[in-house]
Amino acid sequence: MKVLVIGGGGREHAICWKLSQSDKVTELFCAPGNGGISKIATCVPVSAMDKEGILNFAVANKIDMVMVAPDDPLSIGMVDYLEAAGIKAFGPCQAAAKIEASKVFSKGLMKKYGIPTAEYETFTDSAKAIEYLHRPSQTFPAVIKADGLALGKGVIIAKDMAEAEEAVKDMIDGGRFGASGAEVVIEEFMTGPEATVLAFTDGETIYPMVSSQDHKRAYDNDEGPNTGGMGAFSPSRNYTEDLADVCMKTIFKPTIEALKAEGIKYKGVIYFGLMLTPNGPKVVEYNSRFGDPETQCILPRLKTDLYEIFDAVIEERLSEITIEWDERPCCCIVAASGGYPVDYKKGYVISGIEDAEKEDTIVFHAGTGLDEDGNFVNKGGRVLGITAFGTTLDEAIEKAYKGTGKISWTDMHYRKDIGRA
Ligand code: AMP
Ligand code: GLY
Repeated sequence: MKVLVIGGGGREHAICWKLSQSDKVTELFCAPGNGGISKIATCVPVSAMDKEGILNFAVANKIDMVMVAPDDPLSIGMVDYLEAAGIKAFGPCQAAAKIEASKVFSKGLMKKYGIPTAEYETFTDSAKAIEYLHRPSQTFPAVIKADGLALGKGVIIAKDMAEAEEAVKDMIDGGRFGASGAEVVIEEFMTGPEATVLAFTDGETIYPMVSSQDHKRAYDNDEGPNTGGMGAFSPSRNYTEDLADVCMKTIFKPTIEALKAEGIKYKGVIYFGLMLTPNGPKVVEYNSRFGDPETQCILPRLKTDLYEIFDAVIEERLSEITIEWDERPCCCIVAASGGYPVDYKKGYVISGIEDAEKEDTIVFHAGTGLDEDGNFVNKGGRVLGITAFGTTLDEAIEKAYKGTGKISWTDMHYRKDIGRA
């Protein structure tokens, strides 16, 4: 089978890496891909957002399946567009992808169907939002979220009224996050450890993957600005089997049922960002896709053929297959360009990748490219994800750091407390 993966980050490298191990996949393409992906797939210079370009490539090259990995193309209906043209595509349709693309939509869905999440209100008028913040029951920190997609950065945890007011004005009146911030959600601040559960679903059956946890802040001890994710590990230290049962009953199945009741068939990967609060697990957010960097520590643990799972989801026969996992924990450290997520310089030669790849360690590429001499250079904010297995989680963390220590380029930055904080 000829498969085209859409996207070009560390997550897509992990997806391509796993698909390349499938007996069913004879040719693998990735649009646009990256330096590391180019070693295992043919990179296609078409933007992930170019529906027509992707369709033309798929038709001209007789692609059997397109896997749409990032949120942006999902939110503009890439899957609907390809399917309408008769191309098999993996990922939720535009209506289903709204669970990530609009927090107003996802919060409304949870409220209507009684799925546990933080209490909230939505606003398009900053004066009304500020009036709401001034009601007597408001506590701090307050949580203010842009409605739409904002590269994982549209959430402000405001420690006091001044910060909360500023966040509301910035988003609604100041155009921060553009159209994504024109409507805001103000919600209750929840406490407790976080855990992430990704699941495959064909709209009927839901199959949770092994749990994980990511680290969103740029610096150690969860300080600094929010990023796309600085590292992840699997399994979560807090997500017990009992909690998994509770989540299945109160969150996972009800979400799929709620979408169905709204006339939406969700097919693809659904991401549950959970907070394990003293009052039970609650949804922090949904994403309509594999997480990045969670995928880089989850897919290495998958024993089953990923292509077969994708095919079963598309053909709505997920209940007929079994999915097996490696018991060994896994950890992924993200190595970023110095200054990320604000300003950073590109084009530095990266050394030590091959050396790091020894000893059960996999190096997934995100923002890398090749220079004229064929050397890997940093080309983006998050550059590499260094993933390792261990017999225990602590051993996986230690090995991932050992691998990371072998890699270097000018200004390389990584957190030293992944899996430990
Ligand atoms: P999100 O992009 O919605 O996942 O939010 C980013 C991060 O902000 C989450 O991973 C949480 O750490 C934090 N966060 C979001 N919503 C809340 C909330 N209601 N209470 C406490 N923390 C939150
Ligand atoms: N790591 C968080 C995300 O993929 O949104």
